[in-house]
Amino acid sequence: MTREQIALVRKSFDRLRPLPRGAGQDFYETLFALDPSLRPLFSTDVENQGAMFVVALGLALKGLDADADVDASLQELGRRHVLYGAKDIHFDTFREALLCMFAQRLGPDFTPEMAEAWRAAFDRISAVMKKSASDARA
Ligand code: HEM
Repeated sequence: MTREQIALVRKSFDRLRPLPRGAGQDFYETLFALDPSLRPLFSTDVENQGAMFVVALGLALKGLDADADVDASLQELGRRHVLYGAKDIHFDTFREALLCMFAQRLGPDFTPEMAEAWRAAFDRISAVMKKSASDARA
């Protein structure tokens, strides 16, 4: 990711404030609309789950400059996701739901450059989680 892209994801994430209620809830509603089979994997309500997801994402964004501590906590998060039943393919649905949520919340202020930067950021975060999940399964 370029420095500009990192700045763009952080800027658009800040625009979601006040965190974390609404944005996380919108995210999960979109996610379950895209893939209803994901719904039964979640035991908590979308409001709670949404809050946890958005907070975790915010922390992950701090690690985009290659912060080793953040990567270590993402690896742990990835390992826990094996038990949650998360599969690699699900990360693609998560990414699409995230982009939809931003487009809904920010409207035309969510530019194509921001969307591209978010794809790159989400893929970077997911890669760390997927790798540790795959190591844990092995
Ligand atoms: C960047 C991607 C993701 C982030 C930041 C994220 C974040 C989180 C966080 C913070 C939790 C709370 C529990 C914990 O900390 O261990 C959680 C739980 C969970 N996540 Fe994720 N997650 C991501 C991707 C996924 C994917 C792709 C799936 C696939 C289905 C998934 C399914 C779940 C489930 C089922 C739970 C447990 C819910 C429950 O106990 O009711 N997550 N996630």
